Amino acid sequence: PNHEEPAPSQPAAMPSKQTLPRRHSRKDDHVRLANAQHEAEGCNSFDDVRFVHNSFPDMAVHDVDMHVDMLGSQWDVPFYVNAMTGGSASTGVLNGALAQAAESCGVAIASGSQHAALRDRALTPTFTTLREHTHGFLFANVGPSVTASQARQAVDMIAANALQIHVNAAQEIVMPEGDRDFSAWKATIREILETVDVPVVVKEVGFGMSQATIRAIAAMGVAAIDVSGRGGTDFITIENQRRNRSEYGYMAGWGESTVLSLLNAVEVHHERLADRDGSSHASSDSVLQPQIVASGGVRTPLDVAIALSLGAQAVGVSGHFLHTLIKSGESGLVEEIERWKQQLRSIMTLLGARTIPELRTRNLLVTGQTGREAELLGIS
Ligand code: FNR
Repeated sequence: PNHEEPAPSQPAAMPSKQTLPRRHSRKDDHVRLANAQHEAEGCNSFDDVRFVHNSFPDMAVHDVDMHVDMLGSQWDVPFYVNAMTGGSASTGVLNGALAQAAESCGVAIASGSQHAALRDRALTPTFTTLREHTHGFLFANVGPSVTASQARQAVDMIAANALQIHVNAAQEIVMPEGDRDFSAWKATIREILETVDVPVVVKEVGFGMSQATIRAIAAMGVAAIDVSGRGGTDFITIENQRRNRSEYGYMAGWGESTVLSLLNAVEVHHERLADRDGSSHASSDSVLQPQIVASGGVRTPLDVAIALSLGAQAVGVSGHFLHTLIKSGESGLVEEIERWKQQLRSIMTLLGARTIPELRTRNLLVTGQTGREAELLGIS
């Protein structure tokens, strides 16, 4: 997501979408290769988890209320279109279609990295199209290599309700032109937190988060953490394929799975609760923060239900929705999101869960590789 190629020499004036340079863009490569990854969605950590069945739901489908409180707003739908794109003419068009679909279905949406537009104003319309097409909850998106004032500009650019900061070291390190020095990332995130006046989410990009990572981010006082785990879009593979050579091919599959990352988050949460109970001055608010968001390899409404049940407050979907848009157009994506909403209701009914907090009390079995990894980490 980070690191655009050098800005072309464009006049400073903002052209319309039609006059954007039709140059070859990393962003177009990302879309093409990510789309191919989601043509056949394989097994991932969600397959290691299953709900325990109960034959008496004791409720009706119309009793379900799926709303969640996210970052101070109420979301009627607990899943959303996560960060992807913008920064080239064709990805600007995709952003418009994604935002239009999000608006019709009443789901939130995140912008892709806005670095390109922060460097080259000519690319701004490929992001502002998001706000033009939705009145709903919208995340801005930058990496921890921007300045705090650029982060603020990214929020203002699209009148965002919150800001995502992506931490993508695994992607950078396999890119020949990627960042090589990550030593200032935590300090930059802290500066951004002090500068922007919207809630901040620190997110991975499909490599998941360990307990140490989650602990470090929670200590910064961010509003939310998107663990964005392994199991869906794999940027190491994408960066390898972009160059038609698999220099780091053996690194495919790096990272913590989404389910293990969520179990890690639960573990850290318990630890923070125990710390609070042992200390007289910590407020309960600081323990409830940050909210946990799940993403990475979410393929079905059942994956959404599992992530919510494992403690996620909301669930982000990138690759699957991108693939649906490219394959079936905007109306196909709207149909898919509506189908997910209806099926999530059905699954919650089957589980006898009227609300998302009730869903969290349902019994889950964690088996297979995820179960073994959790056991090794001492997660009960
Ligand atoms: C992404 N992702 C991403 N994340 C981010 O924070 N900023 C970005 O610019 C991008 N760019 C991007 C482009 C494309 C084409 C894809 C598919 C994804 C990462 C995304 O938000 C998410 O963390 C991962 O893709 C894992 O989720 P899925 O794709 O497995 O649902």
